[in-house]
Amino acid sequence: MTYAVRYYTKTGNTKKLAEAVAKVLGVEAQPISVPVSEEVDYLFLGNSYYAFTIDPEVRDFVAGLDKNKVKKIVNFGSAAMMNSTRKKVKAVADRVGIAMDEREFHCKGEFKGIHKGRPNADDLKAAEAFAKQYVK
Ligand SMILES: Cc1cc2nc3c(=O)[nH]c(=O)nc-3n(C[C@H](O)[C@H](O)[C@H](O)COP(=O)(O)O)c2cc1C
Repeated sequence: MTYAVRYYTKTGNTKKLAEAVAKVLGVEAQPISVPVSEEVDYLFLGNSYYAFTIDPEVRDFVAGLDKNKVKKIVNFGSAAMMNSTRKKVKAVADRVGIAMDEREFHCKGEFKGIHKGRPNADDLKAAEAFAKQYVK
């Protein structure tokens, strides 16, 4: 299996999760400004909610993916109130013709003093455990 990890972050939370996931997968966590130029079985994409939706940069990144290079996207991230962004990412991935894995990782993320310290050490451990199931 081959993997890539990309993330988008405004306040650093998704970067922490991305680094935990990438460590398990044996790759480097990189921001979405770094294109996926190699063929991968799984692209782990870290992203969050900002004002009730995903950032336009994340949308553009997914829209620009090459379906001949990326077989499947695995969504992961955190948010303060809302649940997973998977549906928002899937809407774009569907247009490009890239499948979204049914599995995903989501936890609380600190925002303006709410959920202070999240993702915390336990969240990072849970993210690692999530990534481990993909390592064959
Ligand atoms: C500008 C801004 C807008 C946000 N809007 C939402 C929102 O609409 N719903 C929500 O659940 N969380 C919202 N959050 C919280 C983030 O999703 C949460 O803090 C997440 O962990 C941020 O990840 P990041 O540090 O990688 O950017 C917002 C955060 C920021 C900075």
